[in-house]
Amino acid sequence: MPYPQELQELIKTVEQTRSERVERKRKGIEVGALSLKERDKRLKSYHPDFKDDSRREIRVGPSKGYAISPEIVDTLESGSRLNPDDIDLNDISYETDLLIIGGGGAGGSAALVAAGAGAKVIIATKLRLGDANTMMAEGGIQAASKLKSDSPYWHYLDVIGGGHFTNDPDLVRTLVREAPSTLAWLEGLGTMFSKEPDGTLKTMHGGGTSRKRMHYAGDITGAEIMRTLRDEIHNHPDRIDILEFCPAVELILDSGGRCAGAVLYNLDTHEYIVVRAKAVILATGGSGRLHIRGYMTTNHYGATGDGLVMAYRAGVPVVFLHSVQYHPTGIIFPEQAEGLLITEKFRGAGAHIVNVDGDQFVYEREPRDVEAASIIRECSDDVGKEVPTPSGKCGVWLDSPMLEFLHGPGYVKKEFPGKYILFKRYGIDISKEPMLIYPTLHYQNGGIEFKSDASTVLEGLYTAGEVAGGVHGENRLMGNSLLDVTVFGRIAGHSATEYAMNKDMPEGLSLDHVVRYHKELKKARIDTGMHSPVILPDYTNPDVKEKQVVIAP
Ligand code: FUM
Repeated sequence: MPYPQELQELIKTVEQTRSERVERKRKGIEVGALSLKERDKRLKSYHPDFKDDSRREIRVGPSKGYAISPEIVDTLESGSRLNPDDIDLNDISYETDLLIIGGGGAGGSAALVAAGAGAKVIIATKLRLGDANTMMAEGGIQAASKLKSDSPYWHYLDVIGGGHFTNDPDLVRTLVREAPSTLAWLEGLGTMFSKEPDGTLKTMHGGGTSRKRMHYAGDITGAEIMRTLRDEIHNHPDRIDILEFCPAVELILDSGGRCAGAVLYNLDTHEYIVVRAKAVILATGGSGRLHIRGYMTTNHYGATGDGLVMAYRAGVPVVFLHSVQYHPTGIIFPEQAEGLLITEKFRGAGAHIVNVDGDQFVYEREPRDVEAASIIRECSDDVGKEVPTPSGKCGVWLDSPMLEFLHGPGYVKKEFPGKYILFKRYGIDISKEPMLIYPTLHYQNGGIEFKSDASTVLEGLYTAGEVAGGVHGENRLMGNSLLDVTVFGRIAGHSATEYAMNKDMPEGLSLDHVVRYHKELKKARIDTGMHSPVILPDYTNPDVKEKQVVIAP
């Protein structure tokens, strides 16, 4: 719906401060930037990660004692969706060199590299190929492609600084070093990045970046990358099989304790499927649909943290899950679109975030966690400068129309076609009216522990993308997620193929690790009354939910 009268009145205040703010911006005067010490204080006072009861210790498994989001702890401490005694692991439906669990950017990149290296690949995906957070990513992909002004060195420092110097240095080194060649690979596959008239790739800043290295395709970068990967996967039917609507439910180990495949569940036929594989790549993505701290989310419908659970039960530790990313600019009005992402690219282009008085209260390119904490603070009783929404929620303004003054008329529609069209449907022209925003759950900063060759402590199990933790430390910067999925997806494809090609088909398949995990839960007297992986969110329509994996009797 268009802005009601009372919000239109408040927008006049934003308009009144706009020309002065535009002028300041043109002169390069920054307002609201915080020192490292101030950032720390802001985070500890207002970021959801630091609220009471935002973390709880896991009581079983390889990371026992580690305190993370309670919503994730619940999934880790739940029983399996299957009864191991009821699964006949000799009844093998598929055999393959490589089983890739997850059909998003990481799984897709891995599949292409593996198939190119001669492996026979199966991609098993919960929904359709490409139904993933990669598809939802808007703003861009970072890479130090312009070596006159940038280098992987600067990229490295930005990533580490954004992550509060907690990131795994080896993973970051790999990420930034591989970035330029990965970008070139995507372009070679046909990804259409936005370009200058002379054909050079357009680049811009993101929050926390010291150089302009964000490459993008309008504001639908993830969709464009996923389109390319998916098209290319379909070009290799001889090497890549795709099992859609077949979520993995448990990993399978062999007699030597190595990863040897997975049990899938066909959501259409309601059958369990046993896949035997020489190596497995876990690329199941994030967990936004667990709605940590009750937040709305930017995430894809299938982002329920399934990979964390399966790997954890099989003995792989989790890391950095104590920190969760809330994207500063989620839609808070219109309500129908609540929680959806408004790309950081708006702020990268210079749009200010302002309060009910039209004042800029935070520098527009602070790292995400600091920016989100500052918005939460502005809306808190401590400050009370929020903009009330018709349904009693609150937000602040993202002043998109100021970009028309900074960059010229037509800029918003041209550079942000996705958001322009979305808001137009509700009768709001974001080149003329600001957007009402509030932080929204966006990214799982942590995940399962892994090394820079994409291997995990479980032999035969490789991983890439949002399910894997350590690259971004305690806070990811914009544009490093599309980079992460493609860089580590490709590495996983390479490493797993190298491993699989030297191996025979695994023997002695078992789910004993699930039996052991159940015993551990029982011993610790834990009964959440739930089963995991979650597969589909709680609020799934009943007719769809009945397709949810059933517990074997
Ligand atoms: O703001 C955004 O466009 C999101 C990008 C990202 O999470 O990398």
